Amino acid sequence: MTRTVQVNDREKTASRLLSSSAKNSYDPEVDIDWQAPLAEDKPYLPLHRSTLYGTPLWERLTEEQRIELTKHEFASIASNGLWFEVLLMQMLLKDFYHRDPRTQHAQYALTEVADECRHSTMFAKACDRIGAPAYGPFRILHEGGRILPAVLKGPSAYASILVAEEILDRIQRDQMFDEQVQPLVRMVNRIHVMEEARHVTFAREEVVRGMRECNPAQRAYHQFMTSLVGYCIIKALINPDVYKAVGLRPATAYRTAMENPHWWETIRWSGEKIMAFLDEVGLVGKPGMPLWRKAGLIG
Ligand SMILES: [Fe+2]
Ligand SMILES: [Fe+2]
Repeated sequence: MTRTVQVNDREKTASRLLSSSAKNSYDPEVDIDWQAPLAEDKPYLPLHRSTLYGTPLWERLTEEQRIELTKHEFASIASNGLWFEVLLMQMLLKDFYHRDPRTQHAQYALTEVADECRHSTMFAKACDRIGAPAYGPFRILHEGGRILPAVLKGPSAYASILVAEEILDRIQRDQMFDEQVQPLVRMVNRIHVMEEARHVTFAREEVVRGMRECNPAQRAYHQFMTSLVGYCIIKALINPDVYKAVGLRPATAYRTAMENPHWWETIRWSGEKIMAFLDEVGLVGKPGMPLWRKAGLIG
């Protein structure tokens, strides 16, 4: 199946991405006005993307509480983006360690690490600016995540990077043009979406190249590992503590959110593009199906 997917020469792609990075990169320290006042009446996510939207708990919240909840949901998503970026930087550095540093490919990997350093700083500053905690994932994922850079390599390493990047991309792209959303959030998302487009190209091509060289046993292994990381990424997005900010019991509100058909639809929508790609390259297979279904990325 992977043989049908076209892929460019590795050095040519890296060279193109390097020149695009040189022309089009952002420094959130200077490109975002961190002192600008927040718009008090604007949510931090479109309201219909809140985890509780459409539930009886949502109906009981005032307009102010709904905006406050989206602020904390945004902080949870952004800080989990940061968490995964820190892990993927380690994976990229591990890849770089074995390569000839003179190649364009190796140099682009370093450039991507530099991008991710700025993104993680940007997400951290955004949480701080809006006055929300940098929630990160819940404890077991925080601890378990540390082994990822050590065990993941090859196509499932790049596919895992892609799952995180493309899910976040779908969510952020939707908001960057939405004038109802908080301007600071839109600016953060715009910078991230523009720079991530290059990362997606880089990782997609690495996945295609890697899958071409896999035998059936390796293919099954990468199918399972990608679904495992994909499941963890979805589970990490919302930290149950966000509900404390609007006076809800975390366990009850989290259960309501995880049973909310609107939230399931948001998850399915956020993964639509990446799941189509993973399927096309042969990374969606039997070993991973239970976890893809449990994550809500496949119906
Ligand atoms: Fe990033
Ligand atoms: Fe990235």
